[in-house]
Amino acid sequence: MNEGETSLLQWQNLQSLDLAELIDILKAQHTDFLDSDLPELQELAHLLADRPLERFLENMAEELAIHFRTEEKVVFPVLESMSGQHNALDPALRIASDHMREDHRSHFRHLRVLRAFQEELEQQGARGMRQHLCLRLNDFCNRMQLHATWENRRIFRRPAVTETVARREASGNQ
Ligand SMILES: [Fe+2]
Ligand SMILES: [Fe+2]
Repeated sequence: MNEGETSLLQWQNLQSLDLAELIDILKAQHTDFLDSDLPELQELAHLLADRPLERFLENMAEELAIHFRTEEKVVFPVLESMSGQHNALDPALRIASDHMREDHRSHFRHLRVLRAFQEELEQQGARGMRQHLCLRLNDFCNRMQLHATWENRRIFRRPAVTETVARREASGNQ
């Protein structure tokens, strides 16, 4: 099964979840990103003396920690308190959702930078630890991309006025 088919399967499974179940999965992913993935990637970059990548990952970890905290402490509880009756016109929720989607656009840009780091490593002849770092970067980017995409589609949905953005995202220009 290729990556696209796996993603589709995951997306179909995800759509059958209720809001509380989905939020539990998203929170577990936050923990994985911050406590496992990013420390490992930073350690590998450090061991390979790739200071630019190490610094970029440090900044990304700080940014994601703030973003995840906002989702977990503010946005998810508000949504759950509404029992999933997501009224896109609710002002506070709309502002919070806009903020999270804006953060996601920044994350998508950062993932493109990480992909560029990965390509550079591959061009250097990825073997041994460098190859391991490439694989881990690829895995992290894929999972982060899916995570933010799921949140955009299931959690931070927008009213019809933003259809242009939704269409752009659906075409892959995120
Ligand atoms: Fe999240
Ligand atoms: Fe998010």
